[in-house]
Formats: sequence, C-alpha cells, structure tokens
Amino acid sequence: MIEKIEALLSEIEQLTVSTPDELEAARIKYLSKKGIISTLMDDFRTVPADQKREMGMRVNSLKQKATEKIQTLKEQFEHNISTSTEVDLSRTAYPVSLGTRHPISIVKEEICDIFKRLGFSIAEGPEVEDDWHVFSSLNFAEDHPARDMQDTFFIQNDPQIVLRTHTSSVQTRVMEKKAPPIRIICPGRVYRNEAISYRAHCFFHQVEALYIDKDVSFADLKQALLFFAKEMFGEHTSIRLRPSYFPFTEPSAEMDISCNICGGKGCPFCKHTGWVEILGCGMVDPNVLENCGIDSKIYSGYALGMGIERITNLKYQVKDLRMFSENDVRFLTQFQSAH
Ligand code: DAH
Repeated sequence: MIEKIEALLSEIEQLTVSTPDELEAARIKYLSKKGIISTLMDDFRTVPADQKREMGMRVNSLKQKATEKIQTLKEQFEHNISTSTEVDLSRTAYPVSLGTRHPISIVKEEICDIFKRLGFSIAEGPEVEDDWHVFSSLNFAEDHPARDMQDTFFIQNDPQIVLRTHTSSVQTRVMEKKAPPIRIICPGRVYRNEAISYRAHCFFHQVEALYIDKDVSFADLKQALLFFAKEMFGEHTSIRLRPSYFPFTEPSAEMDISCNICGGKGCPFCKHTGWVEILGCGMVDPNVLENCGIDSKIYSGYALGMGIERITNLKYQVKDLRMFSENDVRFLTQFQSAH
C-alpha cells in the first residue's frame, strides 16, 4: 500500500492539464467519492492495527497534496496563466505606463538652469511663513493692500502666521543668515486668496532671484534679464523695462518681452501690443538690506521675481490655469517630449 501511495504522490506532483475539462477529469479521478483516494480509504480497513496510524497519516497527506494541486491548477486557469513549459519571451510585459514630468516642473527647472549658469544657486524657504519674512522685512507698510484679508491667507488664531504670497520671503531668510556675496534663485509655491478661474488660482508658483554684492548696478540687472529672456524664449527676443513700484526694490521695474507667439506683430495673447509682461524686478531697497543686517553703504543688489505659470503659458499656450492642478493625464502626457 505504501508503494501505491508513493506512486500516486509522484503522479500528482507531475500532473499537468491544458484545459478546464482535463482539470475536472483529474479532480474526479483522484478526489471524487469513487476516485482513487477514496478507494485507498477502503483498502485502509485491511491494514494491520499496528500500521494503521502511519498509513492513516500517509493517506491523509496524499489527499491534501492532491487537493492543493487541483486548487493550484484551477487558479492558473482563473488567472489565465499557461501551464505550458514553453515560455514566450517575445511577449511584452503588462503595459507599464511611465509618468511624465509636470509642465510647471519642466519650466521651473529650465528657469533655474539658466540662472545657475550665471552662478546662482538654489535656495528654498517655508510655505507657511511669518509676517516678518513675507511683509515687514520687505518694507511693506502696515496698511499695504497685500496684507489685506482679501489677498493673504492668515492663520485665524495667529495673524502673524501666513501662507507666503510670494517667494520674496526667501530673500530675507537667506540675507539674515548669510553674508554677501549672495546669488540665489528661489523656486516655490505661493498662495493668494483669489477666486479660482481660468486666469487665477489660490496657489501658483514663482521663481525669485537675488544678487547682493559690492557695486551691483542696474546695468547688471538689465544684462541678467536680457540673457534670461534670450535663453528662455530664443535669441530673437527683445526686452523692455517699464518703471513700477514694489516696496522692497527702489527703483523698480516690470519687464516685458517681445511677444513670442506673434513675434511682436500683435496678437490676442499680447492684446495687440507686441509685448507681454513676465516679471517684476529692481534694486534691493536699502531698508531691506538693513533689516537683514547687511550694510547698505557697502553692498547693493538686485532682485527679480516671476510666475512660473505665466512663463509656461507663454511657452506652451495653456489657456486655462486650472489645468495645471487638475491632474488630468490627457493634459499632462502632452508634455512627454517637452524636456
Ligand atoms: N514678489 C513680487 C510679486 O509677487 C514679484 C517681485 C517683484 C519680486 C519685484 C522681486 C522684485 O524680487 O524685485 O508680485
């Protein structure tokens, strides 16, 4: 009887089936009421009493092995896995779809790379900031409209804590800690309490640049701006600076580039002016330097800040700002080859 059991064990181990019908036939052969294993149980009665215990264990283990084997074969059919030993190596694996980089990340890195080539290095700061770094240190008057509840997200039980409204806060964080020369570029997310529409969102991204050293002049700023514009939008790009106001720079300017969609001829994007505004800039106000412990009689510097979404729109003409945060892969995969 032992031999019979051993023979059955190896038969079951090697069992293969190629159709569900064959599997059912095997189940009936081994495990049904009139199957081989049940018949063995009948033989069991004739086993001498002193061998009953061992034989019982062997028959039970055989039954268990057969049940497991039939179950494994069944699962293979359910998962549609071939039991054939011929593996088709030419078949592709299940489709693994690779993600794409987000357009905002692509453009952010492009901007940072251009400034890195001018010797700037990346600096980062917190998104949950305090009033000092976002406003006070940057020379914002107590009643400046940016501090208004309409624009800034304040923390209700402590109005000294805000979600930063611009990346200029990183400027003062660095200036407080580090002595000049300072040459940093600060990318990051900022928050403003805006009604969400195709042209405004309650969060967006900016890149800030700051250069502080002895004898830094407006001419240095202009040269850096021109270099950036040409690297970003092409050699043919021209820039123009319009006088403006920011609390933290004096003098301040806004920079336009020749519209890279119509080439400066005039189109709906540039509102038929041939120019589009892309950033704010200026010479760092001496008050800001002094607020951060830098002697404004020895050092001077320039700063500039731009919105990444705006630059991305100019490059890729995304009409609706909300698409950047909707995570719709139909939109995102369009940037697959953009880097
Ligand atoms: N922080 C300004 C904003 O969010 C942008 C800006 C303007 C940054 C002029 C600067 C600057 O560094 O010099 O609108």
